[in-house]
Amino acid sequence: MDLRLQGKTALVTGASRGIGLAITRSLIDEGVTVVAAARNVDGDLKSLPAEAVAVDLAAADGPARLVDEAVSRAGGIDILVNNVGGVRPRPGGFVSVTDDDWLRTLNLDLMSAVRTTRAALPSLLERTGTIVTVCSVNATLPDPLVIDYSAAKAACLSFFKSLSKEVGGRGVRVNTVSPGPVATDLWLGKGGVAETVAGASGNEPGKVAAGAAAESVTGRFTRPEEVADLVVFLASDRAGNLTGTDIVIDGGMTQTM
Ligand SMILES: NC(=O)c1ccc[n+]([C@@H]2O[C@H](COP(=O)([O-])OP(=O)(O)OC[C@H]3O[C@@H](n4cnc5c(N)ncnc54)[C@H](OP(=O)(O)O)[C@@H]3O)[C@@H](O)[C@H]2O)c1
Repeated sequence: MDLRLQGKTALVTGASRGIGLAITRSLIDEGVTVVAAARNVDGDLKSLPAEAVAVDLAAADGPARLVDEAVSRAGGIDILVNNVGGVRPRPGGFVSVTDDDWLRTLNLDLMSAVRTTRAALPSLLERTGTIVTVCSVNATLPDPLVIDYSAAKAACLSFFKSLSKEVGGRGVRVNTVSPGPVATDLWLGKGGVAETVAGASGNEPGKVAAGAAAESVTGRFTRPEEVADLVVFLASDRAGNLTGTDIVIDGGMTQTM
């Protein structure tokens, strides 16, 4: 299927690893000029023909600086992919999560997307562009182990649904993608979910990951490339009448209809 994305421009956040790197690769393969942002852009991004920008998107002024840079390097933004995010499991329970912990999570998992979107919206409106945000199944499957992350992702889902109603009439489509466990550093890397939960419970990281995989009917983690395929489809005109939608990609883990 020709996604007709050739010649478009995109801004992808959290693009140096995992899902964001896979999205960047897929967009480039479709002929899109990609501005790719993360704090450290010296790794795998270097081998891609992307416009890499080093920026801390949890800092209040990071998103606006990034959007300015993206507009000046690419001429404007047709596709905004809000992908940046992170999670820290809370094996100590709710009372162990301090105000600072909450604010860090809300900044990274909610406000970075709010601020990036606010800064990019004029360009998106001018070009009747589109926004795809990587949310999480935890937006609708609240979990005390990731209590602050679940709340931030729920707010993120609500925010983008509201925004889809405000800007839909002006031609900007706004959708979210909500993955279950994906095989990236966030889950499987150093300090990731598997290692942290294993450390707190005296278990092996591999067994924690296997337990999470077993919760899906497919019995495995989603691959970053599978999330990327979905994001790239939503970003294309092939999804022209899809807006205000959240698409779950979790191998059948979610049990509700
Ligand atoms: N993996 C999963 O199981 C899963 C499931 C559901 C939803 N998600 C969501 O999917 C998105 C991507 O997750 P992932 O699994 O690909 O994570 P990941 O492998 O940990 O990658 C995170 C990316 O974000 C960048 N980043 C982190 N903090 C940043 C900051 N303050 N400023 C700028 N860039 C920053 C990282 O690069 P630097 O460290 O160089 O900055 C990296 O490129 C997140 O929103 C996450 O919540 C993931």
